[in-house]
Amino acid sequence: MLACDDPIETLKKKRIILAPMSGITDIPFRLMTKKFGCEFAFTEMIDINGLLHNNRRTFSMMDTVPGDNLSGIQLVGEDAEKFLHVGKMCEDKGFKLIDINAGCPARKVVKCGKGSALMKDVKKLAKIVSMLVENLNVHITVKIRSGWDEKSINCVEVAKVLEDVGASAIGIHPRTQNQMYKGKADHELTKKIKRSVKIPVIASGNIFSAEDVEDVFGLTGCDAIFVARGALGRPWIFDEISRYFEGQENIYPPPFKKIKEIIFEHYLLYADLYGDNVAKRRMYKHLMWYFGKNKNKNEVMKEYQKIEGSGKFKKFLKKIFVEERRLVIQ
Ligand SMILES: Cc1cc2nc3c(=O)[nH]c(=O)nc-3n(C[C@H](O)[C@H](O)[C@H](O)COP(=O)(O)O)c2cc1C
Repeated sequence: MLACDDPIETLKKKRIILAPMSGITDIPFRLMTKKFGCEFAFTEMIDINGLLHNNRRTFSMMDTVPGDNLSGIQLVGEDAEKFLHVGKMCEDKGFKLIDINAGCPARKVVKCGKGSALMKDVKKLAKIVSMLVENLNVHITVKIRSGWDEKSINCVEVAKVLEDVGASAIGIHPRTQNQMYKGKADHELTKKIKRSVKIPVIASGNIFSAEDVEDVFGLTGCDAIFVARGALGRPWIFDEISRYFEGQENIYPPPFKKIKEIIFEHYLLYADLYGDNVAKRRMYKHLMWYFGKNKNKNEVMKEYQKIEGSGKFKKFLKKIFVEERRLVIQ
């Protein structure tokens, strides 16, 4: 069912990966990135408790379709036994890579001991990973942060512990939980982790261009890089990066006419899978990102709220133009 046979070997080959993003990296978004050359992607984070309670919406996050670049599932949770139960379900579904989220900083997540709260309870995190490694025949990776706060930066120690208990790779977003997304990601820490472990290290943080990718590879020697916010409204970033490294001309961002075609394709992927109502709802934030820094977005989005169905959506897009960095509806 998945995009590759041995995900760790594939990860080392592909090197540029779509990071897990909650509410974003669903099937339509993954297919859009695949169109632009991204061949390795994760699900959004999936709460093990939702799966254990047979929550339909949570289950649907594990879905895939032919042509998907889905290569690993990311789980968020707090309890080793529960992780094992859900890990078995993932293995039965055909997943060959399970990533443990030890990085989500959201209050509602950390207050239950999940996500980056696990950076404060390394014993528990190690137990989760070792139980999964010992009992499943899949790769277990962990996406960590630099630590809980600036006084407790422990990512290098955590990475070593995780390697010792059998993790197959480490993803590192070198900001603390306290930092959330503020400040710069400190890739000096990524470099330290890379020097301290033998398993592959995947860097995450502030990757918005091919130059950022080059800088982070150069600084850290990491094995792969996650693209996250850099892909929002810009699924073409994957092609932009490969063209840069192949010495080809940069053709991005595309002209607005082309962006409208990309938007429509993205909408249709939603509509085909889930129907027009869901498509309209889920495309809202993507449209905001696709429209980028152009002014007058709010006015245009008011018009968007009024439309129904893919035919009307196409007409709506046809009427939108950019004049002097401002969206206009004609
Ligand atoms: C909207 C959004 C949702 C995210 N959801 C997840 C998630 O589900 N799991 C995860 O490990 N990281 C998640 N992240 C963090 C990203 O994977 C990435 O580590 C972070 O954005 C730093 O990379 P960037 O600065 O290049 O965006 C999310 C980030 C954003 C912006």
